Amino acid sequence: MTQRPDDAVPSRMDRRRALVIVAAGSGTRLGHGMPKAAVKITDRTVLDHALDAITADLALDLLVLVLPQDTDSQQHLVAASENLNHRCGAVVTVTGGATRTESVGSGVRAVEQHAELESWTGAVHVLIHDAARALTPGSVFERVLSALDAGAESVIPALPVTDTIKRVDGSERVTETVPRQDLRAVQTPQGFTLELLQRAFTHIRDLSKRDAAALTDEAMIAEDLGAAVTVVEGHPHALKITTSIDLTTVRAVIAELADHSEDDAAQERSLGPTTTSVREHDLSILELAVPRVGIGHDIHAFAPAEEPTELWLAGLHWPGERGLSGHSDADPVAHAACAALFSAAGMGDLGTHFGADTIGTSRAQYKGAGGVVLLAEAARIVREAGFRIGSVTVQFIGNRPKFATRREEAQQVLSEAASAPVAVSATTSDGLGFTGRGEGIMATATAVLY
Ligand code: CTP
Ligand code: MG
Repeated sequence: MTQRPDDAVPSRMDRRRALVIVAAGSGTRLGHGMPKAAVKITDRTVLDHALDAITADLALDLLVLVLPQDTDSQQHLVAASENLNHRCGAVVTVTGGATRTESVGSGVRAVEQHAELESWTGAVHVLIHDAARALTPGSVFERVLSALDAGAESVIPALPVTDTIKRVDGSERVTETVPRQDLRAVQTPQGFTLELLQRAFTHIRDLSKRDAAALTDEAMIAEDLGAAVTVVEGHPHALKITTSIDLTTVRAVIAELADHSEDDAAQERSLGPTTTSVREHDLSILELAVPRVGIGHDIHAFAPAEEPTELWLAGLHWPGERGLSGHSDADPVAHAACAALFSAAGMGDLGTHFGADTIGTSRAQYKGAGGVVLLAEAARIVREAGFRIGSVTVQFIGNRPKFATRREEAQQVLSEAASAPVAVSATTSDGLGFTGRGEGIMATATAVLY
């Protein structure tokens, strides 16, 4: 039997694709005093990052940005959409409402108006996406769009639930453990046919305000209408930024992706160039990683003549020079470098990790350890916390020893210890202060972490 044209699978040209990004929320739980979409994750905002997923590969005919009502935020955020025209057919911005559902409603109305204006015929597939899921990879958008192309009328990306979930009663007493294998944590973008979305919004207009408020996403409204909702695989990076811990997680994800792309770049250097869209995506993320800067100081007095010590400075032994007194080898350069690393990571200071309490207990092996050993351990600690060390720079102030001839040697020893570039320089204080009077040496360090 010959298939009639009506029964044919719609060709790409028969359907249109629109993406609505809701970014109108106030971000109350994040607590930055500004709409969440305008909060900076790196040197770029939540919305900027969310828009990174939009590529020409998605073949979007329309992007609708739903922005907050206040004009300052709107103006600021609208700039994010300026370079999107070559990645999708058209870009429209509208103002959101008091609730997410109202904001989605504004977005869907904008899709309807655009479809009418452009005389679209055939099916219109609409994705609804939270700007707050700023790192959602393009692959999730593709899976949702493909499921719509394959005939689904409502599609959600979701992941299996990893926590054990309990149901409780009004007095916080457990009534049931819900079987985890049946549960999915739902993300966005969620995809719908425009026709289903229109029915959904007519449906919630008929509901009481309370019932409508209980329908927290559009897929729930579709379910309420009896529509079949298809689940496709979500992605861990599509987590929603709700509170400050989520912002920290998202920053760590960006740093991790940047690290991987560095590995890729090294591999590329050894294998010769390859061009993949994945690599381009990773590299764009590499550029986004925001450095963290730390500062550290350390001062040690020269040992009294009656209790002479050996001088250890900048990881080197200085035979014949007057030594310093203090903890371990009393190397202020190495100690300041450690302090700067901890400072950049927001992980306290030398005392936190190598103070009397810690060394007496969990880090007993570092009691009396030399500065180089401490620096290697400090570098390990910040790396373990998820940071990559960009560089460490130390300058010390002291009349002696004369440093220039051994600078290279010192930088090599310290860089090896930290497995990162460590630069050291020296100066005097022109005879002023305790360093000028030759009473001790002071070192100041900065560190950059990603
Ligand atoms: N959203 C919106 N309009 C609203 C409320 C929310 O466009 N009136 C959007 C948000 O910008 C976000 C997504 O819906 O991208 C998910 O909402 P949520 O995470 O709750 O964001 P906020 O409402 O901004 O945060 P909060 O609830 O903490 O104020
Ligand atoms: Mg909200």
